[in-house]
Order: sequence, then structure tokens, then C-alpha cells
Amino acid sequence: MYFISYILLSVALMARTSMGQPPEAFMHGEGSSMGGGPPPGAFMNAHEPQAVDLSLVKEEFDRCNSEIIDVHLHDAFWFNSADPLLEEMKLSHVSRGLMLSVYGPIANPFSGDPNEVTESIVNGSNGRIFGLASLNTTIPDWENHGEQELERLATFLAKKPGFVGGKVAAPHTCLPLNSDIMRDVVRTISESPSPVVFLHIGTTPFCGPMGEQVFGRPACCGPEFVDPTYLEDLIQKFTDTTFILVHAGADFLPPNSEHFYHGENVDKSVMLAETYDNVYLEISAFLRQGPNGTDVYTEGTHILDKIADAGLASKTIYGSDVNHAPHAIGSYLATTLDKFIAAGFDEEERCMMFSGNAIKAFGLELGETEAPQPPMDSEEHGEEDNGNHVEEASGLDDVADYLSSSGAGMFMTNVASNIAMALAPFAFVLF
Ligand SMILES: *[C@@H]1O[C@H](CO)[C@@H](O)[C@H](O)[C@H]1NC(C)=O
Ligand SMILES: *[C@@H]1O[C@H](CO)[C@@H](O)[C@H](O)[C@H]1NC(C)=O
Ligand SMILES: *[C@@H]1O[C@H](CO)[C@@H](O)[C@H](O)[C@H]1NC(C)=O
Repeated sequence: MYFISYILLSVALMARTSMGQPPEAFMHGEGSSMGGGPPPGAFMNAHEPQAVDLSLVKEEFDRCNSEIIDVHLHDAFWFNSADPLLEEMKLSHVSRGLMLSVYGPIANPFSGDPNEVTESIVNGSNGRIFGLASLNTTIPDWENHGEQELERLATFLAKKPGFVGGKVAAPHTCLPLNSDIMRDVVRTISESPSPVVFLHIGTTPFCGPMGEQVFGRPACCGPEFVDPTYLEDLIQKFTDTTFILVHAGADFLPPNSEHFYHGENVDKSVMLAETYDNVYLEISAFLRQGPNGTDVYTEGTHILDKIADAGLASKTIYGSDVNHAPHAIGSYLATTLDKFIAAGFDEEERCMMFSGNAIKAFGLELGETEAPQPPMDSEEHGEEDNGNHVEEASGLDDVADYLSSSGAGMFMTNVASNIAMALAPFAFVLF
């Protein structure tokens, strides 16, 4: 863990240097304002405070029955047990979360089997973190070995407590949405006790040089990998299975990319969610803001407007996809709340998107005896939990920024392949 953090910190510092900013920019600031469970030391010393006021989030949380659910969390280098993540969720007013297993085209050399990693976090979360199981669709010879992978997925969905659906990232794994493999995967999930398919829809920054550097080849952003209408047959066939269109078809490549879709995949995602009862939208990642508070993806806000215009608050689910680095969950949530309000969603609609729809889609109802209780023990953390908590966002608040920028891309072309391997954890970004 420390080793990875050290490498990643060095790489991030060098990347930023290569982008013309001094590494000292990272060295200002003290440790974290957060309570227990600090991330590894190197990262803490590199902390650059940036205040994010979470008082409105806290009000929203209270209004929504003390439930804000983040359905898009990842394993990350800054924690190796559930506790630091739970602590950050608590400070960010996120009551529960879903963690995604990721089987990239190259395995993270520092980590175990992705489903088992997720399982260990789920196990240690006291019912606050659920899992989305996955499988490796990039194995050679699917004909002969696919069954084994499907079995891996089926086993986690059927036998492991806390797993509530299956997850696929078609562009990252170059898996056509209308392929036989996709059909096998959807059928397996549909036959499980948790018939929810969680699918990345839209492009990814890994289509292009970054994919080449991190995966050894670019991801695939042609229409058959990113256009949700390629799923329509499966949506019609598996009517008892819920399809969640993750990122709602957002463009994560710039307008000058050959795979820029001008928001067409968003329009198609919205159309499918309007047409089919079993289709939902998920809104993670595309509302991200840079350190200076500007939108990273300029069309992100417009996507919310499209959802609002279509009247799809009851089919839209909140997720962040930002916990690759510490201190990012709360700021994404605060940004989303602002943008929900700006898009004209009322209080009831916002609570549906922040938790009600996720509870319904994933079957996360709490039993009589379980709820409602504050996330973890608020006594114990006294003044930190006063509702006016100001989260500090790290200067490295989203290392993905550096990797998805051309500066980091240029930097990456110069690193040795073993460093690229060390960066494999970032294969998770935007999965
Ligand atoms: C998936 O399979 C490919 C091909 O065998 C392999 O290179 C890759 O490491 C696997 N991914 C994971 C996460 O195990
Ligand atoms: C998770 O907990 C279950 C028991 O509930 C146990 O069988 C399993 O081995 C645990 N898995 C991990 C990865 O810790
Ligand atoms: C804010 O940061 C982005 C990069 O994250 C940059 O493109 C933009 O020019 C900056 N805007 C201002 C006003 O500094």
C-alpha cells in the first residue's frame, strides 16, 4: 500500500511538473481535517486544503431520511480496509455506497482478485457498502473459458452477501454491447438473485494515448461499445432485469476526438430510460470540477438539463466515481446538489435521485430493526459531525485529472513500462 502510494505520489508530482506547475504546490497545507483512518502518510503530507462547504449537503441528507447513497465507489490506493472510506463517507453525509469490481485488460499487480477485494471491503463495512460483481471478458478463447468467468460472476451474485448486481465496462474491455459475450453476461445476471446490470455507457478517456500507456492498447469507443441502442434487444428480452446506464452516455473525450458523439449517446440513454421501465440512468463523473471550480466536462451540466426536461428524476441514480483519491466524495456531492437545484429538480425529486431510486433499483430497503441510524457513531466523533463540516479537498483531489490531461499523456509516453504497471490502479478511473 505504502509502496503504491509512494510511486503514485512521485508520478503525480512529476506529471504536474511536466505540466508546468511546481511540485511545491502539493506540499502546502497540514494534515487532514478528517478524524481517524488517515490515508497513507506520503499522501497526507502532500495535502493542499481547499474548502468545500457541506452544510447544504447536510441539510439535504437530513431531509432525505438520512440517506444519500453513492452507487459508484472504487477500490483505491488510499485505503485497504473499509474504515477510511466509511469515515470519509460519514464526513461527506453519504450513508451507504456500492463498490464496483473492475476486471481491466491488465490486472492490478498489487491487488488480488477484484471481486474478492470488493468482498473484503463489503465484509468490513457493517452493511454500509454493497458490491457489484464482475468478470474478465478479455480472456482469450471465450468459447472454452467463458463458462468459468460467468461462473465467477454467478457465484458472487448468488452466494456472497452484499453483492447487489453485476458490472460491465464495455469500452474499456472492447466488448461490443450487442455481442454474444454481452448476452451471456446479461443472461447470467438476469438468472441471479440480483438481476441488475450496471453498464458504463459513453466514451472513456482511455480511448486514445492514455489507454495505450495504461492498458497497452487504446480502449474501444466505436458506436457498438458506447451507443446504448446496441443494448435495446437485451433490454427488451430481459424485462425483469434492471439496466443502469452508467454516466448516462456522457462524452469523456474532447470535441476534437474522432469518438466525440455530441451528446448523442446521452440523448439515446434518456430515450431508453423514458421508453423502458427496466432502464435507469446513473450520473457519476461527468459533473466533476477542477481545482479552480470549473467543470471538467463542459457538457455535464447540460446532461442534467436533458434529464430534467425528460422528467426522468424517478429513473436517475446518484453516483460519484471520484474516490480514486481521498477527499473527493463530498465535493462531488456538493457540486451535484448545486446542479440539481439549478436544473430545477425539487426536494422530492432530489431525494429520489440521491437515494430512493437506488434503494428501489438495487433492493437496498433496510429491515425494521436496521434503520434509521446515523452513519457510524456520531458521539464518538463529536465536533467533527456538527453539520457544518467543511471538507478539505486534496490538491491531488483527483489524480485522474492529471492522467486525463494531455500533459500527463505526454509525460506517460516517457515512463518505463514498470511505472505504467504501477499506474494500473488508475485503470479504474471512469470504469
Ligand atoms: C483478464 O484477462 C486478461 C487476458 O488473460 C489478463 O491479461 C488480465 O490480467 C485479466 N484481468 C484481470 C483483472 O484479472
Ligand atoms: C466475507 O465474509 C464471509 C462470511 O460472511 C466469508 O465467508 C468470506 O470469506 C469473507 N470474505 C473476505 C474476502 O473477507
Ligand atoms: C480552471 O482549470 C482548468 C483546468 O482544470 C483550465 O482549463 C481553466 O482555464 C481554468 N480556469 C480558470 C478561470 O483559471
